[in-house]
Amino acid sequence: MKNLSIEKLNEIFKNYTLKESFDHLMELGFKNMSFSTSFGQEDQVITDVIFNNDYPISVFTLDTGRLFEATHRVFDDTQNKYRKTINAYFPDREAVEKLLTEKGAYSFYESVDNRKECCQIRKVNPLQRALKGVDLWITGLRANQSTARNQIQMFGYDNAFGLPKFNPLAHWDLSTVEKYLEQNQVPQNHLHKEGFVSIGCAPCTRAVKEGEDIRSGRWWWEDSKKECGLHLNTKS
Ligand code: ADX
Ligand code: SF4
Repeated sequence: MKNLSIEKLNEIFKNYTLKESFDHLMELGFKNMSFSTSFGQEDQVITDVIFNNDYPISVFTLDTGRLFEATHRVFDDTQNKYRKTINAYFPDREAVEKLLTEKGAYSFYESVDNRKECCQIRKVNPLQRALKGVDLWITGLRANQSTARNQIQMFGYDNAFGLPKFNPLAHWDLSTVEKYLEQNQVPQNHLHKEGFVSIGCAPCTRAVKEGEDIRSGRWWWEDSKKECGLHLNTKS
């Protein structure tokens, strides 16, 4: 990163527009930047910027095998609009077969350990594959998505994956995200109109009521910290 500390980068980037931040990012000397998209609203903003400006950033999604059909629609609409590659990563076939055979299709409702096991197989292990050789991981994380995320900065370091992370929307609020998507006619998941804010796997996501925490519809039956292991170890 041209010898710039994460603190210094956060200081430099804090007043940039989204486009300016990506333009400057291109000068930081990363060789293999990769953006992970779940086709959520934040991710769609970032996808729009990357594809419209032809930044040399690869884009990938983790298809857990349990996504909403509506999410696949956004996948398709996005490919059709931009005509760019979105690399899909699937979980290991044998691991999913073993999980289903031994524990059935809904083991994640039975205990936190079972839920973490499923997330590990369907998300975290494929993410490890997707991030192989990557030297900067770009995500759609925002600080005010939850209290667990309130320390998130634009640049951070992920200890679990040993990678610098760039979260260009770290300081955006949801209404700015929504405005951007409307103004730029970016494809969106129709479930957002039905009260779904943060959308993950179908059996583990439900709509939230006005005023409820954005992530309260994820793994709603658990009291534990609502993270699946993708972003457990992010230090800003
Ligand atoms: S999660 O950890 O609870 O699933 P969330 O849905 O808030 O995360 O998304 C935060 C960021 O994690 C997204 O902006 C995206 O970069 C990444 N992410 C989450 N789910 C996926 C996925 N299925 N495929 C690719 N990236 C994902
Ligand atoms: Fe499995 Fe639910 Fe995690 Fe998706 S969110 S990987 S279905 S436990």
